[in-house]
Amino acid sequence: MKNVKQENPSQDSLVAKIDALEAAAAPLVANPALDAGRSQAVFEHAVQLRRRKAERPVFSRDEDGLCESIRQAGIREQGLPLDGALELLRDTVEQFGVQTGRGGSMAYIPGSENQLGALGAYLAAVSNPYTGVADMNPGAVVMQETLLRWLADSIGFPATSYGDLTSGGSIANLSAVVTAREAYGIRAAQVANHVVYCSTHTHHSISKALHIAGLAECPLRQIPCDARFRMDCEQLRGAMSRDRAAGLRPWLIIGSAGTTDTGGVDELSALADISAEAGCWLHVDAAYGGSFALCDEGRAVLRGIERADSVTLDPHKGLFAQGGIGAVLVRDGQRLCSAFRFSGSYLRDISDLISPADVSPELTRPFRALPLWLPLVVLGVAPYRAALAHKMALARHAHARLQRIRGLWVGPEPQLSILVFRCEEGDAANEAIARSFNNEGEYFISTTVLEGRVTLRMALLAPATSRALVDEFIDRLAVLVDERAGIDRASSAY
Ligand SMILES: Cc1ncc(COP(=O)(O)O)c(C=O)c1O
Repeated sequence: MKNVKQENPSQDSLVAKIDALEAAAAPLVANPALDAGRSQAVFEHAVQLRRRKAERPVFSRDEDGLCESIRQAGIREQGLPLDGALELLRDTVEQFGVQTGRGGSMAYIPGSENQLGALGAYLAAVSNPYTGVADMNPGAVVMQETLLRWLADSIGFPATSYGDLTSGGSIANLSAVVTAREAYGIRAAQVANHVVYCSTHTHHSISKALHIAGLAECPLRQIPCDARFRMDCEQLRGAMSRDRAAGLRPWLIIGSAGTTDTGGVDELSALADISAEAGCWLHVDAAYGGSFALCDEGRAVLRGIERADSVTLDPHKGLFAQGGIGAVLVRDGQRLCSAFRFSGSYLRDISDLISPADVSPELTRPFRALPLWLPLVVLGVAPYRAALAHKMALARHAHARLQRIRGLWVGPEPQLSILVFRCEEGDAANEAIARSFNNEGEYFISTTVLEGRVTLRMALLAPATSRALVDEFIDRLAVLVDERAGIDRASSAY
């Protein structure tokens, strides 16, 4: 009998080619011999990185364009040694920009430096389970469901609720808007007739979500806010009755539980009443404020959130997780499934269990649960509750101190942990104060426009934002405000 080799020489050369390609692609195959050394190098780099982070300013500009060296290194045919890649990282990404988790970081919504979360993210990437479909890794899905159940309990949602871990608040808002659209069966012809209500302080991700969801042509009523930057419920009622009289259908009310600008929390119980009377869907964007439900003080401010139809939370904000972990919760979990459950012939071997892919626009996704779960189970919830209560108390302390600075307009007492204030000298003075802090390096703050005027903000959320740092910030602010007003500090009442 002739052997195959003699029969088919082209098969022979194909086998040789495959073997050669296998050898060339071998660096992509896990190699335990190399793994230990590389892991050690990366861990050593990470330990040094933590030290360097603490030493460098909260904000540093890449004045000389050093980050361009990443582009220059490019993506080449032959790789760099790992050491070289780590050096490039050290001298660029790890050197410049804002460190959002540092104590002096008070711009926008701060982040955090969560060591256990980072280790969880590393482990999540090493184990790399397929987390889109329950059958593929039941443990990863149970972990996600456990976290979602705990989050739902924290805001008082019923057992019927279900949710998803998303990439952040924007996608959580999108999922909620799509769920509301499907729950009301709104099709293209009805879009122009279905009215959406939000406040003038609602986060822009809601408009983006409406746009992506094909709802940009829904009439959108941006209801003015009261003196505490909460949606004015009387004006909301007025707008709804005018719309009904005009033959339109009030459909979706967007409440905010902690606006980005001011931290204002809408009167959620009143919104729930209005929504129930009108047969609307109530979505609450609690991306920044929702986790304050973990402490007694915050739970009182958020009362009524448990009556919403859907809620956005953002663990990468108020639960101090690494960037890329948000959450959407829907009171009637079936609604979420109805909005997102699709199938394909290639998924025919999958069981009927509800999977993350059934409640999400995503199929394949990172293992988001682990970086959130690891610090929560290792540290327990108690430090989280304390950190959130601390930020609320610290914000009230800061508010009282800010009020003692002459020449400073100070906004209402913070409901959560964001304060707004401005120097009465005008927009340029406030911009100069922000620049002065940001150039100096220990603090990073951002401005917004309130009542048409440039306004300074302090957002207290990073666990490292201590009373000492806040007091020091206010002392320096007092000096800057005095300088702007030309007041002699010695004669100032501050
Ligand atoms: C109130 C609010 N909603 C939504 C978002 C969007 O969240 P993300 O950046 O996680 O997409 C933010 C972000 O700051 C926010 O403050």
